[in-house]
Amino acid sequence: MPVTAETTARELVEVLREHGATRAEIRLEQWDGRRVVVKDFGVGTWALRLIGLVLMAREWRAHRRLVGVPGIPACLRRERWRLTFECVEGAPMPLADPEALTPEYFARLYDLVREMHARGVAHGDLKSRNNVLVDINGLPAVVDFSAAFTLGRNPVEALVVPYLKVEDLRAIGKAKLRSAPHLLTAEEEQLLAHRPPFVRAATAFLHQVRLLIKRVSAMAHRGMK
Ligand SMILES: Nc1ncnc2c1ncn2[C@@H]1O[C@H](COP(=O)(O)OP(=O)(O)O)[C@@H](O)[C@H]1O
Ligand SMILES: [Mg+2]
Repeated sequence: MPVTAETTARELVEVLREHGATRAEIRLEQWDGRRVVVKDFGVGTWALRLIGLVLMAREWRAHRRLVGVPGIPACLRRERWRLTFECVEGAPMPLADPEALTPEYFARLYDLVREMHARGVAHGDLKSRNNVLVDINGLPAVVDFSAAFTLGRNPVEALVVPYLKVEDLRAIGKAKLRSAPHLLTAEEEQLLAHRPPFVRAATAFLHQVRLLIKRVSAMAHRGMK
């Protein structure tokens, strides 16, 4: 049943993760009997809310482009401080049964990421294997588009998206190296061995930006206590 704006019966099932200085609270809820995942930035300091506004806008924009891509849970609703998603029943890659990480699984993961790229979205944070799930049917799912870049009118996105697409593909190689090294192909090994200078420079820059955001919000967090 689709979750509509009129949905009223919502029930907390469990808090999957507490919020942090820069991270939303993640809750499993039941809406009219349907399990959904809620990402809530409205539970912390003003800094978390401010960060949330930016991250939620990025995530929402990417999801609108990705409607209907198999393996990308639909974003069902956007509210001021939170987003609600279809729940993927399964586990993030680090907690998944290693037997589920088959060549077929990775082939589907590449299909998913290529479809995403074809629609003009680069994920940007696939190196965090918690963003890559294995569902109960053994199929891949990808969540967390808060670091995603979506092609549009902004020229910065047009500059960054090609670089992030390469990073997305390298991240799958890295995930394989960590979780199923015996499945690495020669092509993937080559991709992992060579890191173009522009990738290094951009990664170092983004790392500094993230550190700065963390510092500012940690200061705000302390200020609230
Ligand atoms: N739609 C979903 N279905 C199932 N689990 C999810 C879903 N969205 C997020 N999660 C779980 O919650 C974790 C944190 O969510 P995520 O969107 O990655 O937040 P963050 O931006 O803080 O990393 C994910 O690693 C995943 O395990
Ligand atoms: Mg994440």
